[in-house]
Amino acid sequence: MSSVGELTDFAAAAAVKVRRSDASVRIKLATTQHEVAATRAIRRAVFCDEQGIFNGDDIDATDRIATPIAALLQTPAGDEVVGTVRIHQPEPGLWYGSRLAVARHARRIGSVGSGLIKLAVCTANARGCHTFLAQVQAQNVPLFERLHWHSLQQMDIHGRPHHLMQADLAHYPAIHDGDVGFVLNRHTA
Ligand SMILES: CC(C)(COP(=O)(O)OP(=O)(O)OC[C@H]1O[C@@H](n2cnc3c(N)ncnc32)[C@H](O)[C@@H]1OP(=O)(O)O)[C@@H](O)C(=O)NCCC(=O)NCCS
Repeated sequence: MSSVGELTDFAAAAAVKVRRSDASVRIKLATTQHEVAATRAIRRAVFCDEQGIFNGDDIDATDRIATPIAALLQTPAGDEVVGTVRIHQPEPGLWYGSRLAVARHARRIGSVGSGLIKLAVCTANARGCHTFLAQVQAQNVPLFERLHWHSLQQMDIHGRPHHLMQADLAHYPAIHDGDVGFVLNRHTA
């Protein structure tokens, strides 16, 4: 896994003039209107514009009950939401993660996606999760396997190959203060 030390790469890519030591990425529950709106914008950019899975907007009934999570790039110039995922509990103890998305310019630079997966599963664990599942796009299966998930079955969703995957909760200790969250570092994921 890479570290936020590589945020200089991100800063260059995003044309954000920050010193390496001034930038960090915080993973937290999306608690403000601005954070929630920004997570929705990233989802539209990724799942509608980039991947073409949805037309115009990807909001669905799950958003009414899901907890959104955000990745915030924090610099002296302000915060920018650069990633998101959501979690929900369709039945007691069974949790799902979905709509994992990282802004293009923030991918593979600081384990942003891995950090989002970590807070998603650790938050569910703190809320009584016994089983955490996700329908993972096939190209991302190696990433999830490295993060202690295993595939239960293959399936096609929206005409694309996916794997139903389960997290090993032993690697995701409960996090109760997701509203504060954590800052990514070498040992985050
Ligand atoms: C999947 C996704 C969320 C991953 O986000 P990310 O922030 O790039 O994730 P991470 O940095 O934690 O790790 C992703 C990969 O980059 C690698 N990586 C991380 N930092 C890197 C670096 N500095 N240099 C090279 N590789 C790096 C990781 O090892 C991992 O490897 P992999 O591509 O072989 O799996 C992102 O690519 C995305 O939004 N994709 C489009 C939407 C999507 O596919 N959503 C998931 C649906 S299941």
